[in-house]
Amino acid sequence: PADTVPQAPEDPLFGLMAAYRADPFDKKVDLGIGAYRDDNAKPWVLPVVKKADEILRNDPALNHEYLPIAGLSDLTTAAAKLILGADSPALTEKRTHSMQTISGTGAVHLGGLFLSKFFPGKPTIYLSDPTWANHKQIFSNVGLPSAVYPYFSKSTKGLDFDGMKAAIAAAPNRSIILLHACAHNPTGVDPTPAQWTEIAFLLRTKNHFPFFDCAYQGFASGDLARDAWAVRYFASQGFEMCIAQSFAKNFGLYGERAGCFHFITYPGPNATQTISRISSQLAVLQRSEISNPPAYGARIAALVLNDPVLFAQWEDDLRTMSGRIIAMRKALREKLEELRTPGSWNHITDQIGMFSFTGLSEKQVLELRSQAHVYMTKNGRISMAGLNSGNVEYFARAVDRVVRA
Ligand code: LMR
Repeated sequence: PADTVPQAPEDPLFGLMAAYRADPFDKKVDLGIGAYRDDNAKPWVLPVVKKADEILRNDPALNHEYLPIAGLSDLTTAAAKLILGADSPALTEKRTHSMQTISGTGAVHLGGLFLSKFFPGKPTIYLSDPTWANHKQIFSNVGLPSAVYPYFSKSTKGLDFDGMKAAIAAAPNRSIILLHACAHNPTGVDPTPAQWTEIAFLLRTKNHFPFFDCAYQGFASGDLARDAWAVRYFASQGFEMCIAQSFAKNFGLYGERAGCFHFITYPGPNATQTISRISSQLAVLQRSEISNPPAYGARIAALVLNDPVLFAQWEDDLRTMSGRIIAMRKALREKLEELRTPGSWNHITDQIGMFSFTGLSEKQVLELRSQAHVYMTKNGRISMAGLNSGNVEYFARAVDRVVRA
């Protein structure tokens, strides 16, 4: 009976967002959820999205019919090219299958569900420690056991590369390794290309299966191709692998839930048949879970991805977002160094993407909230996009106070 259902804890991130909204203090600062804000701390509708929206609304042929089960093919085809590169052998050899999903979460879920059902022996999926808070519960919901590999070094506030390699080497052969394609969430720390090359070598030696989560393409370097480097490198090495791709952040389409799941199989004479069987199973899973994905955000993203003029404008918009975030990293580090806040702060500018892992303790995070109305996750992550020219000094001074306390 329903009265035995236990109370679940509130989602930490969405709970934080609600607490921020309910706080009447005028100088409150929201550094919680990873959503871009402009210099006035307001959500930003990308100019290119406004333009695509207008084109769509004025299209007399627009209707509200269902999309196919696999989604809008104009989106999925362009999305695969965006992440893999148009000349990727995986694409030219037709070794991929792409499904439109409920943004990145839906893609991670669909991939997890598929692997849980069809991957022989139901292997463990290894997640970086730390990782996006939702990963573990998504995989647990689909019955995929998870474990962690070290990722963040508390002492350098950079990558614990040796720890990561040792854990990946110690994992049973044919494990699934979840990798963040770029702009690692929550740490802002990415492997270098040389380190990625070593990671790929190690995965190959162990016959592991790479599962890329790509939620921030365009946010790490401001360059779409450069941010796809790791994924493209792995694909070029002939791995069987999958990719979860979100358009929430790079199009600012948070509520529209546009994203894709891509599966790539090994090169070889059976590749096309394998892909055909995989796509048939993915369609069954998708149909039973969401029937078919939502159309509107997919149409906006597809318009932009397939039109060279809109695409160029999108790249400009991405540079606007990533540029402002980089400027805030500099400003924050400068303020903390000016204040001579104890500790070193170079990691603020060394880390990349939407987030910075400040190194602040849970106690300091809670003090920041109670004393200064600053909202950030307990692990010390800040969403850099929540900082702006009007609040960065206020935030730095608040950090300075809790660090000295
Ligand atoms: C975040 O980590 O802040 C974002 O990915 C939003 C989310 O859904 O958790």
